[in-house]
Amino acid sequence: MIIHTAEFTCSYVDWKKCPKEHVPEYAFIGRSNVGKSSLINTLTERKGLAKISNTPGKTQCINFFSINKEWNLVDLPGYGYAKTSKKNRELWMKFTKDYLRRREQLQNVFVLIDGRIDPQNVDLDFIQWLGENGIPFSLVFTKNDKPKKTFKNIENFKETLLETWEELPVNFITSSVTNVGREDILAYIDQVNEAIANDIDLEEE
Ligand code: GTP
Ligand code: MG
Repeated sequence: MIIHTAEFTCSYVDWKKCPKEHVPEYAFIGRSNVGKSSLINTLTERKGLAKISNTPGKTQCINFFSINKEWNLVDLPGYGYAKTSKKNRELWMKFTKDYLRRREQLQNVFVLIDGRIDPQNVDLDFIQWLGENGIPFSLVFTKNDKPKKTFKNIENFKETLLETWEELPVNFITSSVTNVGREDILAYIDQVNEAIANDIDLEEE
């Protein structure tokens, strides 16, 4: 897929105020600092589009980016540790979960998992919550700049997930340093967009 245009459009803290337009939407979630905003910049090849920081808790709103004027990417605040108060973290989580549960335009949530560390309960719990709420998601293992260093953690995570899930969700391996995985994620989004445009149910194929 070629990204012709990628523009920040708006930020919200209330899902009810989010844009009413019915275009396919793809959201990015994961622990603070896992690389959500970086991945959006990598996918769009726009370095400063989504704001990045070393300090966990940079993204604090539901941020919309319009791609090719045809579909939206949505950058969300992280869960887990963030450099802010407990009250703020709870507020972010509340409006983020409301958005994920209620947003009709949402086609898929990419759940980002840090490929450099062991499986974390906070990620497994969040995936469980998505499953319980019937929210479609796929996994993205981030920070795979050196695949030899992440391979074991990724296998470990998949095995842990299979202790409670019957099958693995679609998953991707990415690095915002080497751009690995970029084409795969864009191809996946393209496939879903096409299916929507042609009214095809991918799950029944
Ligand atoms: P919050 O908005 O705070 O929840 O964080 P985020 O998940 O949006 O993470 P962000 O994209 O801001 O990146 C956090 C830090 O990780 C930054 O210092 C990035 O440069 C770094 N980072 C992101 N992706 C990668 C990657 O693929 N490889 C490496 N080595 N560092 C990365
Ligand atoms: Mg961010």
